[in-house]
Amino acid sequence: MKKNRILTIGAGAAVLALGLAGCGGDSGSGGGTGTEGGDASEVEVFTWWAAGSEKAGLDALVSVFGEQHPDTEFVNGAVAGGAGSAAKDLLQSRLQQGDPPDTFQAHAGAEIQDYIDAAQVEDVSDLYDEFGLNDAFPADLVDRLTVDGAIYSVPANIHRANVVWGNTKVIEEAGVDPNATYETIDDWIADLEKIDASGATALSVGQAWTQVNLLETVLLAELGAEGYEGLWSGDTDWASADVTAALEDFETLIGFTNDDRDGLDWPDATQLVIDGDAAYNVMGDWAEAAFAEAGAEAPADYVYFPVPGTDGVFDFLADSFTLPVGAPHPGGAKAWLETVSSAEGQAAFNKAKGSIPARTDADTSDFGAYQQTAIESFGQDTIVSSLAHGAAVPVAVLNDITDATSKFTSGASDLAGFQDALVAANAK
Ligand code: GAL
Repeated sequence: MKKNRILTIGAGAAVLALGLAGCGGDSGSGGGTGTEGGDASEVEVFTWWAAGSEKAGLDALVSVFGEQHPDTEFVNGAVAGGAGSAAKDLLQSRLQQGDPPDTFQAHAGAEIQDYIDAAQVEDVSDLYDEFGLNDAFPADLVDRLTVDGAIYSVPANIHRANVVWGNTKVIEEAGVDPNATYETIDDWIADLEKIDASGATALSVGQAWTQVNLLETVLLAELGAEGYEGLWSGDTDWASADVTAALEDFETLIGFTNDDRDGLDWPDATQLVIDGDAAYNVMGDWAEAAFAEAGAEAPADYVYFPVPGTDGVFDFLADSFTLPVGAPHPGGAKAWLETVSSAEGQAAFNKAKGSIPARTDADTSDFGAYQQTAIESFGQDTIVSSLAHGAAVPVAVLNDITDATSKFTSGASDLAGFQDALVAANAK
């Protein structure tokens, strides 16, 4: 993998750099590092990779785990629901009841910061030393995972959230060029109108969190990387005319989508494109794994490109694993974190998951064509933090944004009301 852009982002561009946990604030683990080991007979791994291509990714990691740690039993604690829509609530109640899993999936950035602030996760920086991770991950990534000298998670991957996936035939049949490139969302809308007029569903989307995934990419397209990052730092005014323009585009895009959206999770919405029941879907690049699993081939069957207006920007998120305070099998968790962070684990997992390794030395030579583009983009693009996937804002803020989005797309609020609700959500 190429030397990473986040290695080279200077202080002046820090606003555009990864919004990882280094945003400061008081923190502390619940005492003791727990990293010495302990009971390694089993490890309960809590994720939301319960089915389909996501489970296939997890299975690939588990298979490396089985080779590296044959004496530790893997216990699958996966809770279904895309983007952790159900998992995070259940996890929170388990943590509050003192019943943590041995390790859980969380997003690097603001989401992990929540767990740090609540003293629910241990400092695992000893493991960075023990496993040699300070050199294996990009230096800036390690810096940004560091909070007051401590590190609380191990990243398994890097995903990109600002990707359009298209069905080649459906697009062609509507008289649109599947290889067209679009400078702006407005340019794309002109072709979506043609597809819509042909009778096909121009854009598929699913339940609320997938709508937020779409929304963040439209904000990014309209505001640019710096303006978008300003939404999270406070430098961009949520009440501004630029945000209004983005919301208008979002409204137009939602107008092209399937009516049954609120009943669909991401695999269903992406499947509409795979099956030729919709032309496009905006989704993070876990969708690549779904196309691959379906045997689809690019460009004959599907196309992909950055959301118009966001070329050159990599809307980033990283799935990371933790050592919860009070984990019943800390030795098992340590073994899991070792596999997650290993070059072999990262290669196997990411190849199957559609993402790219966080390690710079994992072998990606047999990764697919899409993933090669992601590796290249991550190496040269401006990196910004995903809203829908925990990098940009704490879970409570994201929940409010999601509720506001859902209210708007279901017709329960108008655009002005939507924008007011977004202003309020971010004023928390
Ligand atoms: C994201 C997660 C990805 C993928 C996606 C859809 O939040 O980081 O790994 O699982 O949700 O469920």
